[in-house]
Amino acid sequence: MSTTETGTFFSAEEYFATQPPPADLEHDIQGVRDFIARQAKAGRNVVLVTSGGTTVPLELNVVRFLDNFSAGTRGATSAEYFLQAGYAVIFMHRQFSLQPFSRHYSHSTNPFLDFLEIEPSRDGTTSPPEICVAHEKRADLLQVLTAYKSVHAAGTLHTITFVTVDDYLWLLRAISKELAVIGRKALYYLAAAVSDFFLPRQKMSIHKIQSGKGSLHIEMDQVPKILKPMVDEWTPDGFIVSFKLETDGDLLIPKARVALERYGHQVVIGNDLHRRKFEVVFVSRKPLPPLPPGVKVEATPTPAADYDPENPPPDTFVETWLRIPIPPPSVPHTTNQIKEIEEDIVAELVRRHTQWMEKA
Ligand code: PMT
Repeated sequence: MSTTETGTFFSAEEYFATQPPPADLEHDIQGVRDFIARQAKAGRNVVLVTSGGTTVPLELNVVRFLDNFSAGTRGATSAEYFLQAGYAVIFMHRQFSLQPFSRHYSHSTNPFLDFLEIEPSRDGTTSPPEICVAHEKRADLLQVLTAYKSVHAAGTLHTITFVTVDDYLWLLRAISKELAVIGRKALYYLAAAVSDFFLPRQKMSIHKIQSGKGSLHIEMDQVPKILKPMVDEWTPDGFIVSFKLETDGDLLIPKARVALERYGHQVVIGNDLHRRKFEVVFVSRKPLPPLPPGVKVEATPTPAADYDPENPPPDTFVETWLRIPIPPPSVPHTTNQIKEIEEDIVAELVRRHTQWMEKA
């Protein structure tokens, strides 16, 4: 652990040595292990989708916490498209955030009760009235229900929940190590919004922080960047996709490049907070030109002396924008007929992941 004028930095190892695992970790991971074994036997690729925001509790008996922005739309929607593409999905999401299939009937945007109608009893008096699905909602519902039932029957979706950033990091590490067993067939789609700062257990108040003493000052420590050990140690063969969320669009590409350079994973998908439903950018490293026949690389080349990983040369990277038309405000967001950008994101990732597996 290092302390500087600006705060305390935990390495990933120190973090896991000092912050306790979630109570059900062993049980949850056994479920994941069994799921992966079944999918491996069936020869399927498996994607881990993380979704929703993590919290940082301020008290041990938690009354207050800091939350990270994410409804879980990106993760839940993408999970459906991965399932459609034949992947098995481990859907690791924030408790009560959106989930594949049920997301279509969120209580705020498309309340389920609005789908139902009461039909008076046929014989007029004795039997109770019947419940049926409103006629205009049937086509959409049938489509979602059919996909949902077929995924259930195939057993290709496994769901697991987190609440705090501690839960998230412990689960991510354990699941990555399990998924490492299938090597390049594993894809990681890290769409969750993960807290950058946390309050270590050792500094937390046991009971509810009392008011009445003026303003509240809390000093938080930085959460270790877990992409580095993930790439280097937990799952070295996996195809790892992280997301970068910014509110200043000009920062998207530079920050994505730095993340790729620093962590060495495969793709960063940049999204601007306000345009994320209609526009994203894929940032990745340019493929190296093929070596002449018979030439072998003996060791990783040493970077040039003036090389600065915080400011990598732009010609190392390639950017691909995906855009869909913005639907007019008159079109309700509740119909399945609206194009979702996740469909294109997943199609592009499936293409890249397939190439990655073939190269092996
Ligand atoms: O769910 P929606 O409402 O649809 O919103 C979707 C989204 C905007 C939240 C999603 O598309 C998105 O951008 N998610 C990532 C947001 C985020 O937390 O970015 P970040 O800059 O904190 O993290 C960048 C990457 O680093 C993430 O992939 C994360 O997994 C990883 N990370 C983060 C923290 C940490 N300690 N270690 C990490 O490795």
